Amino acid sequence: MRRRDFLAGSAALGASALLPAFPAPARGERLRLGMIGTGMRGQVLLTELLRRDDVEVAALCDIEPIMLGRALAQVDKAGKPKPRAYGQDRDENAWKRLLEPGGLDGVIIATPWEWHAPMAIGAMQAGVAVGCEVVAGITLQDHWDVLDTQLRTGTPYMLLENVCYRRDVMAALRMVREGLFGELVHLQGGYQHDLRAVKFNSGDPDQPYGSGVEFGPGGWSEAHWRTAHSVNRNGDLYPSHGIGPCAMYANIHRGNRFIRINSFASKARGLHEYTVARSGGTTHPSTRVQFRLGDIVTTTLACANGETIVLQHDTSLPRPYSLGFRVQGTRGLWMDVNQSIHIEGRSPAHQWQDFKAYQDEFEHPLWRRHAGVAAGAGHGGMDWFVVNAFVEALKAAAPMPIDIYDAVAWSAITPLSEQSIAQGYATLDFPDFTRGAWATRTPIFALSDAY
Ligand SMILES: NC(=O)c1ccc[n+]([C@@H]2O[C@H](COP(=O)([O-])OP(=O)(O)OC[C@H]3O[C@@H](n4cnc5c(N)ncnc54)[C@H](O)[C@@H]3O)[C@@H](O)[C@H]2O)c1
Repeated sequence: MRRRDFLAGSAALGASALLPAFPAPARGERLRLGMIGTGMRGQVLLTELLRRDDVEVAALCDIEPIMLGRALAQVDKAGKPKPRAYGQDRDENAWKRLLEPGGLDGVIIATPWEWHAPMAIGAMQAGVAVGCEVVAGITLQDHWDVLDTQLRTGTPYMLLENVCYRRDVMAALRMVREGLFGELVHLQGGYQHDLRAVKFNSGDPDQPYGSGVEFGPGGWSEAHWRTAHSVNRNGDLYPSHGIGPCAMYANIHRGNRFIRINSFASKARGLHEYTVARSGGTTHPSTRVQFRLGDIVTTTLACANGETIVLQHDTSLPRPYSLGFRVQGTRGLWMDVNQSIHIEGRSPAHQWQDFKAYQDEFEHPLWRRHAGVAAGAGHGGMDWFVVNAFVEALKAAAPMPIDIYDAVAWSAITPLSEQSIAQGYATLDFPDFTRGAWATRTPIFALSDAY
């Protein structure tokens, strides 16, 4: 069965039908992909799609005409056919029209977080495979709804968690799998990125950053929508860059699972201080906003196999970027903040060694194979890998390497962490989204030759 016939058939069957495995496109056929959200992140992902000969960018949607225009210009500059375009009328439901004509094999969703669940559900119901940026939903119920739609429709869904493909993160994965750290005991990671200049800007699309304290309707790009989450929510708002690699190290959903979670939030000071300092002594309305998001949110997870995982969300204070990874087992540990490692028996007693030599020795086979083509892609090459994995898995009709269970469990850390904080830092049961299947599933991430 050709993919397009399958898609037409599945639409006719309706959302509740149990569908056969998603078919691969015919040999030599290019994947027809769409993109919803062509903002700053969408444009980076689009660059990766336009570099490929096996993909046709068939449709784009954004409700901000400047962003849509920039994406269309990218396609034109790459000498590729003009895609269908949606959203010029600023209709926030224009994405539904993008899905309507059929013929799309997949869609990449790079919109504000609150849109990810409805857009992914709509696409899966239309039989269009989903590559979703790194938040699956807002509420816990959103996560169950996204999961159940995927299970019911059989439409592929991948969370586009690029940090899982970071070069050092993947070398460490190889070291974990080869037993260098012994038995894993403890993991750490997080999102430690000073976003103050992203959350507030001038609102000028040509020169947004470096000045201004606008957000909401007057802010540009993420200041337009992301800052509101810091006003209204208190929890780990962005867990997947940290938990993704840790979950792969610990084989979560593949012989292991999260069983308990709690979060603590510090006081909120950074964003207010920033607006006061940057507003030049004025009484700009941003200086009067009360931010709920604690400056440092620390989340602890316990796993069925006895490991603990600590995540930190730290986006409102001055600091250099670091995701703060730590992989620790019975024979040693790696930490990314100082790029240092200690392995008992290899390292001098009680001393750190530079990770560089280990990076070379334990380079992951995927990086060994693809470093040339990935070089120059976004975020040190990892954006090439994540797009490549989505495209190759779709072409092969193979399981997504970061699948629906990973997506919903990693992303559900946010509402669970909000709930824990709201209940006085309570420790909560972590839902088993796999409904028991975690015990018998086996690892697949980064184990194929191609992706
Ligand atoms: N993986 C990464 O490294 C990475 C990096 C940056 C951002 N992101 C994620 O990517 C997503 C987008 O972030 P961004 O930085 O591009 O933000 P952005 O604000 O620059 O882009 C979002 C775009 O979505 C559009 N949009 C909003 N509502 C829409 C709707 N109903 N229909 C169509 N388009 C709509 C906006 O007009 C905007 O252009 C977020 O989920 C963010 O967390 C991931």
